[in-house]
Amino acid sequence: MDRRKFLNSLSVASVATITGAATLTEKADALEDAMDDALNKRRAKPNACYVDGRPAYDSDDERPYLQHYDPLLPEMPKAPQLVDFYNLRFRPQHVLQSARLAKKAGYDEKIITACLLHDIGLNLMNTDHGYWCAQMVAPYVDEEIAWAIEKHQALRFFADKDFGYEYPDAYIRMFGADYEIEPYIEHAYKEARKNKWYKTSRLITINDLYSFDRSLTVEVDDFVDIMGRNFKQPKEGLGFDGSPVAHMWRTLIWPNTDCRSPVPIRPH
Ligand SMILES: [Fe+2]
Ligand SMILES: [Fe+2]
Repeated sequence: MDRRKFLNSLSVASVATITGAATLTEKADALEDAMDDALNKRRAKPNACYVDGRPAYDSDDERPYLQHYDPLLPEMPKAPQLVDFYNLRFRPQHVLQSARLAKKAGYDEKIITACLLHDIGLNLMNTDHGYWCAQMVAPYVDEEIAWAIEKHQALRFFADKDFGYEYPDAYIRMFGADYEIEPYIEHAYKEARKNKWYKTSRLITINDLYSFDRSLTVEVDDFVDIMGRNFKQPKEGLGFDGSPVAHMWRTLIWPNTDCRSPVPIRPH
């Protein structure tokens, strides 16, 4: 276990127990209890994660399945807002750097927001990430932004001379020179070309980063104002507003909750 990560991830209640312990021995015991709690739970994984074969069922393993908060992940607020996901769940540098590029180029907030959100679906699912991402944000953003995010998945494979967009070299390395685009992606691209919002989606691909700049760290705080103006934050928090996509946000909050008992309506 990464001790530093573990210590940073402790819940407020666990930290209070440890720091409130009167003696060093009691503190050590409280810390050990927290570590036991983190380790002595089975983590449920979706079947799709077991492409190499699901491990045989171990009837001797009687540890309970982890429910709701994973002690190895940072705890989230009761009513999490978009910025909390950037800080506590996402790997955000790619989208933050894309949004920074769009901002530097002087594009309007609709484009910057689209860039800021365009790949957050990758934190949930790789396959068809554009579609997942568009659905995740659709209740909270302008329809044009959600549409553009969905279509960027297809547009990134097709050059557009008018915008100076070439097929990314990185894709030859990532997918192989013989990669053939699936027919449904080609169809989505052709349909998108005819749409009035094509430019918005194309600008996501223009500001997308095809090689990650590890020397640069962009702060999410630089975009909180833009989020506030362009993303309707539900007062109940993402995941708890009863929207058709609330389950996607809850999955990010509690990624390894077992399905055999119901998920509570509210955290805690
Ligand atoms: Fe993408
Ligand atoms: Fe991207």
